[in-house]
Amino acid sequence: FPGCRILCLSRDIPSKPGCLNGSAPKDATSFDVRGTPGVDVYIVHNPQVAKVPTCVPRWPLDVRVEVVVTMKTPSDAVNDNKVRISYYGKDGGPPMHRAMLYLTCVGNLSVLPLQREWTWGPDGQGAILLVNCDRDDPKSSDMDNKDFCVRSYADLRDMSCMILRTRGPDAIFDDHKLVLHISMSDADKVGVFHARGDDILHQYKHVLGSNELSYIVDRPSGQEEDTFYVEGLAFPDADFLGLVSFHVTLLDVPDENLPETPIFTDTVVFHMAPWIMTPNTQRPLEIFVCSVSDNADFVEAVSKLARKARCKLTVCPELENQNDRWIQDEMEFGYVQAPHKTFPVVFDSPRDGEMQDFPFKSILGPDFGYVTRQPYNESVSSLDSFGNLEVSPPVTVKGKEYPLGRILIGSSFPRIGGRRMTKAVRNFLCAQKVQAPVELYADWLCVGHVDEFLSFVPAPGRQGFRLLLASPSACYKLFREKQEEGYGEARLFEGRILETVTTTTIDEILANETLRRENDYVQSCIDWNRDILKQELGLSEKDIIDLPQLFRVINKKASAFFPDMVNMIVLGKHLGIPKPFGPTVDGRCCLEESVRSLLEPLGLTCTFINDFFAYHTLEGEVHCGTNVRRKPFSFKWWNMIP
Ligand SMILES: *[C@@H]1O[C@H](CO)[C@@H](O)[C@H](O)[C@H]1NC(C)=O
Ligand SMILES: *[C@@H]1O[C@H](CO)[C@@H](O)[C@H](O)[C@H]1NC(C)=O
Ligand SMILES: *[C@@H]1O[C@H](CO)[C@@H](O)[C@H](O)[C@H]1NC(C)=O
Repeated sequence: FPGCRILCLSRDIPSKPGCLNGSAPKDATSFDVRGTPGVDVYIVHNPQVAKVPTCVPRWPLDVRVEVVVTMKTPSDAVNDNKVRISYYGKDGGPPMHRAMLYLTCVGNLSVLPLQREWTWGPDGQGAILLVNCDRDDPKSSDMDNKDFCVRSYADLRDMSCMILRTRGPDAIFDDHKLVLHISMSDADKVGVFHARGDDILHQYKHVLGSNELSYIVDRPSGQEEDTFYVEGLAFPDADFLGLVSFHVTLLDVPDENLPETPIFTDTVVFHMAPWIMTPNTQRPLEIFVCSVSDNADFVEAVSKLARKARCKLTVCPELENQNDRWIQDEMEFGYVQAPHKTFPVVFDSPRDGEMQDFPFKSILGPDFGYVTRQPYNESVSSLDSFGNLEVSPPVTVKGKEYPLGRILIGSSFPRIGGRRMTKAVRNFLCAQKVQAPVELYADWLCVGHVDEFLSFVPAPGRQGFRLLLASPSACYKLFREKQEEGYGEARLFEGRILETVTTTTIDEILANETLRRENDYVQSCIDWNRDILKQELGLSEKDIIDLPQLFRVINKKASAFFPDMVNMIVLGKHLGIPKPFGPTVDGRCCLEESVRSLLEPLGLTCTFINDFFAYHTLEGEVHCGTNVRRKPFSFKWWNMIP
């Protein structure tokens, strides 16, 4: 049939399009096409797609014309439906010739909701897979997707169901085979189990994934559905977009001496659920803190705050943390979500301090997943600690919505060289797509973490939050005011607790030119970030609050001069803020008073926690010493358009 093709695009029809080849007579110039009632016939005449109307026009025999036939319901008998094509010559008149296509419809591969393509957004479609990275059986030594069996119903519930429908006349399966298959590049991303033996789990067989690329599906006569369960093995990453396709192909088995020929393939596409972070504005569920040799008071203060905020407190014991107190840096909590299941997943940082085994040994568990990334061949720096990995609340930037917020990481940008988070981690974060990362400048800090100069608190108003930034200018302004009010002699670091610390007065601080120059530098670094944050998060000055803070610069790197108040823990409206030990004015710390006056009108309550010797003098504060698991977003990730 020169110049015209018939294509069976529908997965419902395993027909043999080739049967029409060459059926057009030499002088034919046009054709019409009709199907029996079970068949829908479409003409694709670039670029429009038109369903053939009842009063059938004639179509030119032209390469650009395609005929597409589909069937909605399976056949009752072999060849029970037909499509007839009539060919006409230049002069019209009766057809010169007729060709008949016999159709048998036998079924499809589907997941619910039924999807052959994957598209983002509220009108999008597509099936979702979870990386089965939890450990439902506490006795098991590894994650559930490391084995080739279904251990329990809990394990099964983390998988997605895929149904192969083979309705249609049994006779067709006598000389046809069904093969379920995946491409080589997808084979290490998924595992497929064939549900067999009346729901007896240990009879579920691992049939696809790893080395198994195809599986011949036995179809007992009359069995119209076959159920498979699919688990994810890998998160999206630099070399994996997150999409996995499964195909079912119907093979014609003509006779023993000839090889099988594929006659029709149906495909379903799954998207691997991304790992999603939760910002400070999400409700806290569980707080983590380390118990080490010298921080009993701190742990007590944090547990008091947890009780106020009605959160569970989990203390990582010394045996497990081996005196490593930086629990913020070792891991980040996120979650994965599919329509049928949501569970938290801890991302274990490549930092690997003394408590490196804690996330795998103690956090991974039933419905609590685990993921980590090993650096490619780069060295790990302090910027790989997850105090340097934060996420903003949901924002809209010049009309573009980020309903799950944007990830914020600190980098050496804009300088050349310097420390940067490893590519392995950056690639992973970018590949999740749903919280497009923003790189900030953090390498000016000795430790180099974004949580040293920014935080977010829930607050009423347009955005539903405020960005808090550490601010040397705000601190100088406050101290000058206090000096003018006659409190120049008031001392920083005064009091019984800090007996061993050298105190200094407001007058001395304001007169210290070195300190001033250092803080001008720090302010310029933070201002640079302020501009990026305004631009990349769509913020205005109204959305930002400057918290008074001073830094020192030693060996060209900055550290907080007094406890870094922005490095706080945010538990709903309860804030746990490093106690600054600022100058006392009218019996109160003027730094605490200033912070209260900025935050309390927003409905927040400030609890100042003494972290001076246990954290501050070791270059960290409250946020660095705690970690919070939060409630997942109610917004579903697949409804966004990244
Ligand atoms: C294919 O699957 C869909 C969705 O389950 C179903 O509605 C349709 O009837 C199936 N087609 C055949 C031929 O079985
Ligand atoms: C590993 O390091 C070498 C040399 O430093 C570099 O050329 C190469 O691209 C690196 N490989 C990867 C995967 O990053
Ligand atoms: C001024 O500040 C610098 C650095 O922050 C400090 O090293 C120095 O001792 C201070 N000088 C006085 C006189 O306090």
